[in-house]
Amino acid sequence: MTPAGTGSNTRHTESRSWKRLTAAIGLLWLLAAVVGSAMMSRPAAAGAGRDNDRDDDRLSASDRDGDRDDDADDDDDADNRKRSPEELVNAGQQIFRFDTFGDEQQWTGTLRMNDVIEAAVDPQTALSLGLKVDVEALPPEVQAAIGAGQVDLTDPQTTLTLIQLNSVVGVVGTVEDVSGRKHLSKVGITCALCHSTVDDSFAPGIGRRLDGWPNLDLNPGAIIATSPAVPPEAKAVYNSWGPGRYDPRFNQDGKSTPLVIPPAYGLQGVKRATYTADGSISYWNNYVAVTQMGGHGTFKDGRIGIHMVQKPDLVKPKLRALREYQFSLATPAPAAGSFDPAAADRGRTVFQGAAKCATCHNGAHFTDINRGRRHRPEEIGMDPAYALSATKKYRTTPLRGLASHAPYFHDGSAATLPDVVEHYDSFLRLGLTPQQKMDLVEYLKSL
Ligand code: HEC
Ligand code: HEC
Repeated sequence: MTPAGTGSNTRHTESRSWKRLTAAIGLLWLLAAVVGSAMMSRPAAAGAGRDNDRDDDRLSASDRDGDRDDDADDDDDADNRKRSPEELVNAGQQIFRFDTFGDEQQWTGTLRMNDVIEAAVDPQTALSLGLKVDVEALPPEVQAAIGAGQVDLTDPQTTLTLIQLNSVVGVVGTVEDVSGRKHLSKVGITCALCHSTVDDSFAPGIGRRLDGWPNLDLNPGAIIATSPAVPPEAKAVYNSWGPGRYDPRFNQDGKSTPLVIPPAYGLQGVKRATYTADGSISYWNNYVAVTQMGGHGTFKDGRIGIHMVQKPDLVKPKLRALREYQFSLATPAPAAGSFDPAAADRGRTVFQGAAKCATCHNGAHFTDINRGRRHRPEEIGMDPAYALSATKKYRTTPLRGLASHAPYFHDGSAATLPDVVEHYDSFLRLGLTPQQKMDLVEYLKSL
């Protein structure tokens, strides 16, 4: 269940085959891009209704709109109660990877991404948009054909084949054969689109799934911008975000505040999800599935003025299993030899002492959110724009697998770990020596 395994497979090093394969993959990505467009199709709903505008740092049990740690948003129905923990995790994996929650209503119905993909998703383009292919979903003969250059990677029909094989990570479609040609009648997206990548074991962008790892190559904005249903002004915004970023509020508040796609691993025991700690993990999963993916379900939060009701609810009955799966995703261990252990040891002392990091990054998960603390943007020198959502503050990000998911901070304002350290050194006037900074970086790489 852990995505931490990064064992590399045999690499097929024939570059021509790779190019072709990559091209094929590109198609898939384009596909994904199309899907992304759908995601953004809802009109902005003016940021009204922030009626739970608390300013205290404490998490209060009376924050009834989503802000609770008990995961009361989960539907603990009879089916779920009968399941063993393993059954829940396995069911959650299927949901995370393959469940669209009925979001075809957005990606197909509204955005017509199925038409876009079928008509024009060129594999090269798709690849450049960051889509990934699950090599384990490709039958050996397909892998061999790709390797032998027998697969036409400049044809959208190839993309449809990859979708038909259920090999495009986070993209689920229905492909029909109509008079000898493939036709994509429906397409939707899953959580894995943004929160899984692959280990590149077969070729760049093609490998085994790494669930929970953010896909920082994925360009959801550019993907969305390919949809004919998106107006030109909105396309310009989507195209401005870049790879690895997505704004899960833009279609609600009309403000462009792109965020770095975060990992979905290492969250077990962290009491609030998201950069602004709006609620439990299930609160957020529900929010994303309904308001962003376009799933058929219900989501309400008076703080941000959202009251969406769609019955039957295809989201809520799955939240518990989905949460258990995410909790099963362990933080990947740093790669062997990727940091200097002696320096990291010294860096721990700096982290806890001179650099004052542990005043906020404390406890088992390196975050004080579990103690009910959130931070005003001015405390840490962060751009306040995104915090203006439900809580007005930022959660101290739990530090997990840092080396595997640059850039850092919610807006990606620090490209590297040395940039993170420089930010704090200058903003908090820490006066760290060059040696202390280097040691601190080695320590961060070890987390
Ligand atoms: C289009 C890309 C995209 C898709 C699809 C998507 N997410 Fe996310 N996810 C994001 C972004 C961006 C954030 C950061 C939001 C924030 O912190 O406010 C995020 C945040 C999260 C977090 C919080 C991580 C943390 O550190 O607290 C979790 C958990 C999560 N997503 C799970 C899911 C699940 C489960 C699904 C499917 C129901 C999903 N996401 C679908 C982009 C996506
Ligand atoms: C006053 C509380 C506070 C202090 C002190 C603090 N941090 Fe943070 N840290 C935060 C908050 C809040 C965030 C989230 C900011 C954002 O995403 O914009 C954060 C984010 C980070 C991140 C980004 C993680 C990610 O996945 O994007 C890193 C790395 C980090 N801090 C390291 C440090 C280090 C190293 C120090 C000491 C030099 C430190 N922090 C001191 C509160 C603090």
